[in-house]
Amino acid sequence: MHQSILVYRSYRYLKWAALLTLASVVAYALHNPHFPPNGGTWLGYTLGTIGALMILWLMWFGVRKRRYNEGKVKLEDWLSAHVYLGISLIIVATLHTGFQFHWNLHTLAFGLMVVVIVSGMFGVFAYLRYPQLMTANRRGQTLRQLMMTIAEVDTECREIAVKLGDTVNRLVLDSTENTRIGGSIWRQLSGKDPDCATERALSKVRTEVRADASASVKDESRLIVLLGRKSELLKRARRDVQLKALMDIWLYAHVPLSFALLAALTAHVISVFFYL
Ligand code: HEM
Ligand code: HEM
Repeated sequence: MHQSILVYRSYRYLKWAALLTLASVVAYALHNPHFPPNGGTWLGYTLGTIGALMILWLMWFGVRKRRYNEGKVKLEDWLSAHVYLGISLIIVATLHTGFQFHWNLHTLAFGLMVVVIVSGMFGVFAYLRYPQLMTANRRGQTLRQLMMTIAEVDTECREIAVKLGDTVNRLVLDSTENTRIGGSIWRQLSGKDPDCATERALSKVRTEVRADASASVKDESRLIVLLGRKSELLKRARRDVQLKALMDIWLYAHVPLSFALLAALTAHVISVFFYL
């Protein structure tokens, strides 16, 4: 997804969404029931029905995006409309309730809707922002190339370390074998490893070689430079993994919670028909 989704067809779907929002606000302002406005007035039912139909349509996007044939309406149109109409749903649904919120199932449906919408907004932000950050962070390389550079630095470190005694050798071996990029979802999202074997090696090698007067000064400083370089490359690789994880994570809220919303909404509609 790129910028064009938001400006797509000269903001056509933004205009539709603005029109729908405006019409709902005007209808709400002109609506004058003899009791506080709520979901049970004729306007309440109308806005509620529009809102529920919009939710069904927004969910249908999941089906539409998996179809291979183009269809009459392009996927870009679907997504652009999904984004703008999805946001306008907040206004439509709020006016439906007449601002009457209590701790009940109805408000649960509303809350789920808000979380789905906010996660969608984050998704759009992530799709627009993070690919650029990823390219800048990798300085034109792919993640694979970055990993290959790390492997090359590792080989050089090992070659030097064998000349610098057992302790240094062990630390460098540990850095080669036990440095992790990624891992659990939390580790990926954090973009850091608090127990990084390379960081450990870098700080210990610094003190170790200082204590060992017999070691060659040239090899020592080369090793420290190389470990520093590896540490910098690792930071970039972890940042890359972090940005990728951020681009994926929101969908884990967006999609399951939209199903939870559908269930709560069904229960809401059934319950109001039973109790009214
Ligand atoms: C076919 C669609 C819908 C119908 C027929 C409908 C019906 C109603 C009715 C009759 C009420 C008034 C209940 C009362 O005063 O006790 C109500 C309230 C409410 N509705 Fe809907 N609704 C629909 C869609 C939606 C949607 C899409 C949402 C948002 C996700 C929503 C959220 C709420 C909330 C939060 C309230 C206020 C509950 C409260 O007073 O605490 N409804 N709805
Ligand atoms: C209650 C409102 C919404 C519902 C029920 C809903 C539901 C869905 C569903 C079911 C999908 C398909 C995901 C899949 O199957 O992979 C989807 C995709 C998406 N939604 Fe929403 N959505 C809502 C609102 C929004 C809003 C307000 C935004 C943005 C501001 C948004 C942004 C997106 C994006 C960018 C995708 C595409 C994800 C991809 O293809 O990678 N959604 N949404």
